[in-house]
Parts: sequence; structure tokens; C-alpha cells
Amino acid sequence: RHILPTRVAIDGPAGSGKSSVSRAAARRLGFAYLDTGAAYRALAWLALTRNTDNTQADAITALLKDFDYAIGTDPDEYFVTVGQTDVTDAIRSPEVSAAVSAVARVPAVRGALTELFRSIAENVDRPGVIIEGRDITTIVAPEAEVRILLTASEEARMTRRSAEITTQSAETVAEQLRSRDRADSQVVDFMSAADGVITVDSTHLDFEQTIEAVIDVYHTCTKRA
Ligand code: DC
Repeated sequence: RHILPTRVAIDGPAGSGKSSVSRAAARRLGFAYLDTGAAYRALAWLALTRNTDNTQADAITALLKDFDYAIGTDPDEYFVTVGQTDVTDAIRSPEVSAAVSAVARVPAVRGALTELFRSIAENVDRPGVIIEGRDITTIVAPEAEVRILLTASEEARMTRRSAEITTQSAETVAEQLRSRDRADSQVVDFMSAADGVITVDSTHLDFEQTIEAVIDVYHTCTKRA
């Protein structure tokens, strides 16, 4: 009999530390880690590679037909592939970051990827899975045992992101992040916690403290159940 893994849903804006914290927490709990933003990025990468007009919802939707996507859910072996191409690094490019919101706003894309995430999360070979994104606590896994909104002040998020991206000026990074948050928040509200979702504010926490806060919430929620 297939026992469903415990689901930990984590949403939040870019620069909240979501990805690195989710991955580290998964490692500690012995859980799988599913980064959902990577799939939107990989589809945006495919659109750019094929010169698809990303303002055309139909053209973007058509890409789903042969979107042969794979992602590593072992927190120690992260990779993203489309067909035979390893796109792990390519999907982090400024071009993909600039194009991804337009792709993520297409309803057919959201529907298809949501199904994909549910199926990946159900089939991990670990006792649990941390699923991280923008609409995991609300749309992808609203029934998750643990639901967290990871936030940080805009200033803290900008500072962290510009420390990560050293190829561009802090101002450029901040402006790109702001414009992506603006576009993304028109599609899903990832700035406020939905009913029953616990907020972890990392503004004044360091990396280690944020991981501990997430793991504390996990223990609180699973003890209660
Ligand atoms: O988390 P990220 O920056 O890698 O996400 C990339 C984009 O994908 C982000 O701009 C919004 C979109 N996204 C989404 O719409 N829903 C998700 N669950 C995850 C990401």
C-alpha cells in the first residue's frame, strides 16, 4: 500500500530565503524537496529557446504538449531538465527571470503544472515532501499537514537577492525583483497568509534561525494532528 508522504507547503516572495531554507529543512527532516518555480522557469526557458511570443497565451499553452520536464527532489541532488537538456543553471538567467511571469499567468499553464506538482509530490520516495512556491498553501496542496508563509521585509529581500546575484548592480536586481513581485502578485496572493497558514517572518532571523523556525512549525502542526 502506498502511504502518502507528509506535505509541508511553503509559499512566499522572491528573496524570502524560501528555496534555500526549504531545501535545508528537507535535508534535516529526511524529506524530499520540490521547487515549483523551476517548472515555470523551465517553460519560460523553452519559450525563449523556441522564440515563442510569451504574450500569446495560446502559443505558450501549445508548448505544454511536448514539455518533457524533470526535476530532482532529493535535496542533495537538485537538477532540472527539459528533454535531454540540463537547464539547472539556464533557468536562473535574467532573461528567464524577466519572461517567467508572463508564462506563469496563463491559466492552462497553471492548471497543467499544478497537476504535475501533485503527482511528483505524491510519488517521492521519502516519508515527507517540502513543496515550495507561490500558491502551494492555497491551490497546489491546501490540505497539506503543514502550511507556511515565509516572508521578509522588502529591504531584507532585496539585500539577500543582490548578495546572491553579483553579475548585476544592487539597484538593477532590486528593480527586477520588484517588477516580478508586482506581476506575480496579480496572479496569486503570496504576500498574505491564507486561513490556517502560519507566517514565519525571516526579516530578523539568520539562515539557521529561519530553518529552525520552519522545523518548529512542522513539529507544532504534526503534533497537533
Ligand atoms: O520561486 P521562483 O522565483 O523560482 O519562481 C519563478 C516564477 O514562477 C515566479 O516569478 C512566479 C512563478 N511561480 C508561480 O506562479 N507559482 C508557483 N507555485 C511558483 C512560481
